[in-house]
Amino acid sequence: MSKTRSSWQRTHTCGDLSSSNEGTECVLNGWIENHRHHGQLIFLDLRDRYGVTQVVVDQETGGALLGMFETVKRLGAEDVISVRGRVRRRDADKINKNRSTGEIELVALSLTVLSEAETPPFEVHDKIEANEELRMQYRYLDLRRRPLQEALQKRAKFVTAIRNYLQQNRFIDIETPILTKSTPEGARDYLVPSRVHPGKFFALPQSPQIFKQLCMVAGLDRYYQIARCFRDEDLRADRQPEFTQIDMEMSFVEEHDVLDMVESMVVHGMREGFGIELPQPFPRFDYSEAMDKYGCDKPDLRFAMTLIDCTALAQKSDFKVFAGAVAQGGIVKGICATGAAEKFSRKGIDELTTFVTGLGAKGLAWAKITANGVEGSIAKFYEGDKGKELCAHMGALPGDLLLFVADQKRVVNKALGDLRLKVGGILSLRDPKVFRCCWVLNFPMFEYNEEKGRWQFAHNPFSAPVDWDVKDFSVDTENIRSRAYDFVMNGWELGSGSIRIHRPDLQAKVFEFLGVSKEQQRINFGFLLDAYKYGGPPHGGIALGVDRIVTLALGREGIRDVIAFPKTATAFDLMAEAPGMVSAEQMAELQISSTAKPTS
Ligand code: AMO
Ligand code: AMP
Repeated sequence: MSKTRSSWQRTHTCGDLSSSNEGTECVLNGWIENHRHHGQLIFLDLRDRYGVTQVVVDQETGGALLGMFETVKRLGAEDVISVRGRVRRRDADKINKNRSTGEIELVALSLTVLSEAETPPFEVHDKIEANEELRMQYRYLDLRRRPLQEALQKRAKFVTAIRNYLQQNRFIDIETPILTKSTPEGARDYLVPSRVHPGKFFALPQSPQIFKQLCMVAGLDRYYQIARCFRDEDLRADRQPEFTQIDMEMSFVEEHDVLDMVESMVVHGMREGFGIELPQPFPRFDYSEAMDKYGCDKPDLRFAMTLIDCTALAQKSDFKVFAGAVAQGGIVKGICATGAAEKFSRKGIDELTTFVTGLGAKGLAWAKITANGVEGSIAKFYEGDKGKELCAHMGALPGDLLLFVADQKRVVNKALGDLRLKVGGILSLRDPKVFRCCWVLNFPMFEYNEEKGRWQFAHNPFSAPVDWDVKDFSVDTENIRSRAYDFVMNGWELGSGSIRIHRPDLQAKVFEFLGVSKEQQRINFGFLLDAYKYGGPPHGGIALGVDRIVTLALGREGIRDVIAFPKTATAFDLMAEAPGMVSAEQMAELQISSTAKPTS
C-alpha cells in the first residue's frame, strides 16, 4: 500500500487558508454548502468540520479547458468534491469578516466529484427552518451544521478537561456493568431479557450508584466514570432516556471535601471547555434557606430579588387577605422588583396575577412605590407610616414594584419563587451569558408520595441522615434531613450527591421505613448490605449531568442540541427507528412473547 497522498486528497482543511497562503496551490475536500452561478463565474462554498472556503470556477481560465465548468454547473448542495486550486487574496470590499478564510478564495484549477448527493430533505445551513422531526430523522445531515458540530467539539473538550482534572486528583476511571440489576433512582428500568437464564432480565443502570459504593468498599478510594445512564421516565427538554453523568465517589470524606473537589473541577472544565470563568466560591445554602429566600431548591443567582417574609407585618394589617392568611397558619411573602414600577402596566400586573393563580395562589397583592407613598391594590392599607414601614422592610424605594402572596407556606414559596423567575426574565435579569453556581445542602430525607400514599426517598435510599443516631424515621418524618446536596447553575439542577450510609444496620432501617421487605432487600441489594459487613469506609459522592452542563454553557434550548444521536420526546430514535420489532426466532430463543398489539 502506497503511503503517498493521492492526488485528490486534501493538503489543507476548509478552515486553514488565509492571506498568508496567497499564491500557493492546494487541494481541499469537502461538501458543497452553496452554489452561486454568475455568468461565467461559479462560486462554491466548500465546507468541512474546520470551516468554509470560497471556491471560484472561472469559465475563461483553466475551467473551460478542462471541461470543469460544465461539471461544476451540474453540481449541487452536499455533493462531496475535491478541488485543486490556487489561493487568491480577495479585494478589500469582498472580504468576509465572519469567516476565518474570508480574506481569500481558491481559484479552481481542477475538480473531482468524490460523491454525488441527492437533494437533501432540508437545507444544511446554520439557521435552518426544518422541523425537528425531519432533522432527527436525518440526523447525520443536521450534524453537518456548525451549531451542532460546535456543541459536540466543545462537549468533548469539556469532558477531556474533566478527565484530566480527575486523573490529576488521583481518581480512577472504572467501568461498571451495563447489564446489571435495578438501581433505585426513582425512574422505571429498561430491561434486557437473558437468553441463558430464561425468564430473567437484566436492568440497564439508572446510574452506577451501587457499584461505585462497592468500589469504595473495595478500597479504590477515588472513583470516577463518564457514565451512560438509562431511565424510562417522562421526557422533557432537559431529560433523555439515556444520558451521561460525570459520576464520582470518594472515601473518608465529609460534605466539604466533595464540594470543594467538584467546585474546582467544574471551574476547570468550564474554563477549558467553554472559556467561561465562574465566580468562586459557589455560595452554599441550607435547603431551608434556599426555600425561604428563593422559594425553590435550585436558586437562580444571576439576580437578587429574594423572597422577603412579611408575616409579622401582615399579621397586624387591616388588609384581610394578609391578616386572614396568617390567622389560618399561613405566611405572607413579597419580592421587590427594583425600578420596575413603570415597566408593568395594569395589564402586565393582571398577567402576573393569572400566572400565580395558575400555580395555586389565590391572588397577587401589589404596590408601586412613588414619591408620594404606596399605590396599587394594597394602597389603602398602607398609607403614611404603615407604608413607610412596609418599604423599609422590603428595602423598597420610589420606582420599585412590590408583589406579595399570602397563603400556606408551600403555596407561597411555589408561586412567589416562580414569579421571581418570571419577573427576572421580563426584566432581562437572567442573561444566558452570565453563569452563577451554588450548592444546596441538607435536603429532606423523605418526601410524601400523595398518589401512592406513602413516604419515599427524596434523593436515593443510600443517602445518610444528618443525624446518624436517628431512632425512628416515622417520627417527624418530613423534617428529617439527609446529607444530600445539589449543584445548581442558573436555576438548573446540574448535579446531585450525598454522604452515604456505610453501616448495614442503618441501611436496613431506611429500607424498612420505605417499606422494602427483608426479602426484597436481599433480592435487590443483598450484595451491598453484605459488602458493608466486611468493612465499609465512610464515603460520599456526586453525579453531574454532562448533557445539561453543556446545554447551559452553550446557551442551547434543550439537551438534544448537545447529543449526537438523541431520542424524541416519546423515547424514539427516528433515524434508526429504534425501538423496533424483533423476529419470532429471537423471541422464541429468549423464551418471551409480547401481548402488545403490533403497531405499524
Ligand atoms: P441524579 O438522579 O440526581 O443522581 O442524577 C444526577 C444528575 O444527572 C442528570 N440527569 C439527567 N440528565 C439528562 N436526562 C435525564 N433523564 C437525567 N436524569 C438525571 C442531572 C442530575 O443532576 N446516583 C445519583 C448521584 C449520586 O448520588 O452520586 C444520581 O444519579 O444533571
Ligand atoms: P380582593 O380583596 O380579593 O379583591 O383582593 C385584593 C387584592 O389582593 C387583589 O390584587 C388580589 O389579587 C390580591 N389577593 C387576593 N388573595 C391574595 C392572596 N392570597 N395573596 C396575595 N394577594 C391576594
